[in-house]
Amino acid sequence: MSQQKYGIAPHGGTLINRLASPEQRQEWLDKAEHLPRVELDERAVSDLVMIAIGGFSPLTGFMGQADYDRVVNEMHLVNGLPWSIPITLSVSEGEAERLTIGHLVRLDDATGRFVGVLELTEKYPYDKMHEALHVYRTNEEKHPGVRVVYEQGPINLAGPVWLLQRDLDPRFPTYQIDPVESRALFREKGWQTVVGFQTRNPIHRAHEYIQKCALEIVDGLFLHPLVGATKSDDIPAEVRMRCYEIMLEHYFPRDRVILAINPAAMRYAGPREAIFHAIVRKNYGCTHFIVGRDHAGVGDYYGTYDAQHIFDEFDPAALGIVPLKFEHAFYCTRTQAMATTKTSPSLPEERIHLSGTKVREMLRRGELPPPEFSRPEVAAELAKAMQLLEG
Ligand code: ADX
Repeated sequence: MSQQKYGIAPHGGTLINRLASPEQRQEWLDKAEHLPRVELDERAVSDLVMIAIGGFSPLTGFMGQADYDRVVNEMHLVNGLPWSIPITLSVSEGEAERLTIGHLVRLDDATGRFVGVLELTEKYPYDKMHEALHVYRTNEEKHPGVRVVYEQGPINLAGPVWLLQRDLDPRFPTYQIDPVESRALFREKGWQTVVGFQTRNPIHRAHEYIQKCALEIVDGLFLHPLVGATKSDDIPAEVRMRCYEIMLEHYFPRDRVILAINPAAMRYAGPREAIFHAIVRKNYGCTHFIVGRDHAGVGDYYGTYDAQHIFDEFDPAALGIVPLKFEHAFYCTRTQAMATTKTSPSLPEERIHLSGTKVREMLRRGELPPPEFSRPEVAAELAKAMQLLEG
């Protein structure tokens, strides 16, 4: 029976599967030496994986020009579905010239391993500055997402892709739960409503607070930390996942939470990425998605609640996943509880909240973040990891 009969439908109605069959895979491996190659960077490899496992449904490959233009300019695909981030494979002019439209291209990862196949349907130039200004709302090179656009090649290759095989992430084998599996798990647990949580930072009490507020009104929580490429000063995924394990052991009802990795790369596109993150979690089977303060933001490129306001630009039915919007949460010393200005009468000086940068500075100095900011077991884990990292 079709799985769409249960739970929320994937974006576009069908969960995409672009994993090569064993026969197909063998055929391509046999031909491998004769296929032209393109080397993918870490982000493109994770995009390939996300397409293949259905995380980016309805995409079946890297975007052609018509979808690219509509996504950049109007935040929709040509078929009318909401989509906010271009998913592209960029190469140099020289590389593009030696590839023939209609032919297969071998996709290698940075170590030269054959990971996927692209059926090349289009090659097109694009305007990097235009993409930066529309998608990232800035053309400054110091924005980490914009820098990636500026550094990549000037020609996009488009067409359907296949992933040769789905390998287990050696770092987190037990937490690799692909959309088809998360959907089955939610069904098994009888969860009608599931809230997805995106994160790239170590869990702190404001995260825990908004997760638990959401858990009060839905059946289950899908904790979905992003473990693909992040900027170099973000805390490594291994450390973040250990913090989550600690939290689940001590602070959450185990049967109401599923922890799984999100293999995607971070783009730091703030509001546009919030829409994208929500669509991806819809594909994993979530009905709701948490959007807090400065979601997927970096520096001060975006207003604190821009990533919430952008949802008003979409038809809720077309988006098909409900954003749960939370104000900036802090520890309130007056009421001695986590709160936001919606629930606390505190004056600003009675609010404890720390930025990620501040926490990193404290850890570097060998100080533990206070219990009002971070659970002590998590603070200890972060301190240990920081000592090893800074060595
Ligand atoms: S993000 O780049 O993945 O958005 P982070 O891991 O810090 O960064 O945030 C995960 C989610 O928690 C996002 O929805 C973010 O808006 C939200 N969030 C983080 N800190 C707070 C806070 N103090 N108050 C409310 N929401 C927050």
